[in-house]
Amino acid sequence: MSNNRSLASITQKVLMALTGLFLCTFLVVHLAGNLQLIPGMGTREGFNEYALFMTTFPLIKIVSYGLYASIVLHAIVALILTVQNNKARPIRYAKNNAAANSSWASRNMGLLGTVILAFIIIHMKSFWAEYHWGSLPLDANGNKDLYEITVTAFQQWWYSLLYVISMVALAFHLMHGFQSGFQSLGLSHAKYTPIIKKVSMAFGIIICLLFAIIPISIYFAQ
Ligand code: HEM
Repeated sequence: MSNNRSLASITQKVLMALTGLFLCTFLVVHLAGNLQLIPGMGTREGFNEYALFMTTFPLIKIVSYGLYASIVLHAIVALILTVQNNKARPIRYAKNNAAANSSWASRNMGLLGTVILAFIIIHMKSFWAEYHWGSLPLDANGNKDLYEITVTAFQQWWYSLLYVISMVALAFHLMHGFQSGFQSLGLSHAKYTPIIKKVSMAFGIIICLLFAIIPISIYFAQ
């Protein structure tokens, strides 16, 4: 591999890691806000007030442009890397005992990422686009009633099921992706890497379990 090629591939990996880890921090904040939707955990007015703050507070608005850019960049660089990897190795190794050498998630990051991208597009169309450009009812305080359209959506079994399936894909993607991000940034160490791998597993499972509880609890509370 020439110097230019290896520099390009390092830049791509670092870009994937930085955007991926930034998306992980977004997920934690997003989850914390959305837990208010679990029946008994928050109020309609409180959730709508929170949504208004998140979409109008200037600093958060700026961060959200970084978020949209990160989603697009993460997906585009992933596509480039996948195409390059396939070109570099058109014939599978004869003795490619992949299952013994790597996890299922690590071998299917492209597939998992595609499912998650499809989820994000459907998800943003349902709530984000509706909030910004749709005609939402207003709550008792005169704020757009995002709570109403979110809860109504999750009261449909197929919509909640779509979320739960997407959260399974996201869990596997995060279980591998979180620790892989640290490695791509050169943060690997005989002592700390096993700990980072365990944290990565826990992060993927806990975040996605909590996200999945939201549609499930709303569906069964009706
Ligand atoms: C049950 C789980 C979830 C619920 C109830 C939920 C709810 C919402 C709602 C109500 C909005 C619109 C609010 C706004 O525009 O500020 C939103 C926006 C968004 N959601 Fe989710 N969400 C969930 C899971 C996820 C997951 C797992 C991801 C990513 C994989 C995600 C990515 C996004 C993005 C990128 C936006 C646009 C954010 C922005 O404009 O700042 N959401 N979500």
